[in-house]
Amino acid sequence: MNTPMISPNIVVCESGPDAARHVADLLASEIRTKPDMVIGLATGGTPVDVYRELIRQHREADLDCSRVTSFNLDEYVGLPSGHPQSYRYFMQQHLFDDANFSPAKTHVPDGMAADLDQYAKQYEQLITQSGGIDLQLLGIGNNGHIAFNEPGSLMESRTRVVELAEETIDANARFFESTDQVPRRAITMGIGTILEARKIVLMATGESKAGAIAEAFAGVCHPSNPASALQRHANVVVVLDPPAASRLGS
Ligand code: GLP
Repeated sequence: MNTPMISPNIVVCESGPDAARHVADLLASEIRTKPDMVIGLATGGTPVDVYRELIRQHREADLDCSRVTSFNLDEYVGLPSGHPQSYRYFMQQHLFDDANFSPAKTHVPDGMAADLDQYAKQYEQLITQSGGIDLQLLGIGNNGHIAFNEPGSLMESRTRVVELAEETIDANARFFESTDQVPRRAITMGIGTILEARKIVLMATGESKAGAIAEAFAGVCHPSNPASALQRHANVVVVLDPPAASRLGS
């Protein structure tokens, strides 16, 4: 692909909580402008405060999510929706149950689908039928992964089943009782799927993300850092705290 690199709009907030408020305001403003928008949502530690702020705005500032359609990025293969570490469970706990999302309009990939390859195609079709994603929220892994697109993923990749990298399993083991319990496979939107969103907001906080962020926006797009593909997108906002921004330009 010969698409030129585009510098993202990078916002460095004063702290992690400030970054979360900033991202929540971006999301809430899109929802207020287009109440029936299609939003792409992420899991992990990073968006927890973003979702808390959206719930606050729903309760205290009339934020109405009832007409929003949502698509989550990814899910572990083999975890049922009621499993405390499944991403469906995460979304119910951290957002859906406490803001007024319409259950039928929330989509999280089904890691228990009998035919995962077929299901992945259907997930893509659902996104297309809904009109495509207006705004995609992303976090980033320490190794530069976005959703569960590990280093080496193709920029054109679509929703599919993937093997998780050892470093991702280690990083996510903190949410499980032991590393052995972390699923080895996941179903994830592809980088190509993500790049079709009309707007992308990537949030990262903490020193552990500094290297991945610096590499992702260094002006080169390389499969060793999947997030570097975002430089091909014309409408990306990167929201950081100072530690995550500390190695930019180094
Ligand atoms: C997970 C998720 C990603 C997330 C990333 C960072 O493995 N699949 O969507 O962005 O890792 O997670 P955290 O925010 O906990 O650092």
